[in-house]
Amino acid sequence: MIVIGSDHAGYDLKAEIIAHLTAQGIELLDAGCNGESCDYPEIAVRVTEHIKNGECDKGILICGTGIGMSMAANKVDGIRAALCSDCFSAKYTRLHNDANVLCMGARTTGPGLAAEITDIFLNTEFEGGRHQRRIDMFSEIEKK
Ligand code: RB5
Repeated sequence: MIVIGSDHAGYDLKAEIIAHLTAQGIELLDAGCNGESCDYPEIAVRVTEHIKNGECDKGILICGTGIGMSMAANKVDGIRAALCSDCFSAKYTRLHNDANVLCMGARTTGPGLAAEITDIFLNTEFEGGRHQRRIDMFSEIEKK
């Protein structure tokens, strides 16, 4: 299952992405917001909790720029959040970084591109190998 969340600035794009993924039969958990003004770090924590507890394996976070969401999500141990505004980054952050949260900016990325970025992110597998060693280094940083 995929968990998705946004603040008020990302709400409309979140609705577009939910519709896009639901049409493909992908099961989603919507962690809010419901359009009301809110603080993006709270939504980032909600979304990452669903990943941490194993209920969801990937998450999507949308705010105005995607920057605040990515900063907040990356504070959580075990979360590798990637802000993507192009397809190449979406592909390589899965292949090389094993990113488990996709962040996008509703004020920087149009709905068509955001849908394509999302598809690539969700359909690309981690390459492993030498990249796993680098991912393991994140855990070492988290322990310090
Ligand atoms: C909200 O106005 C805006 O600051 C937020 O959505 C986000 O862009 C922060 O990084």
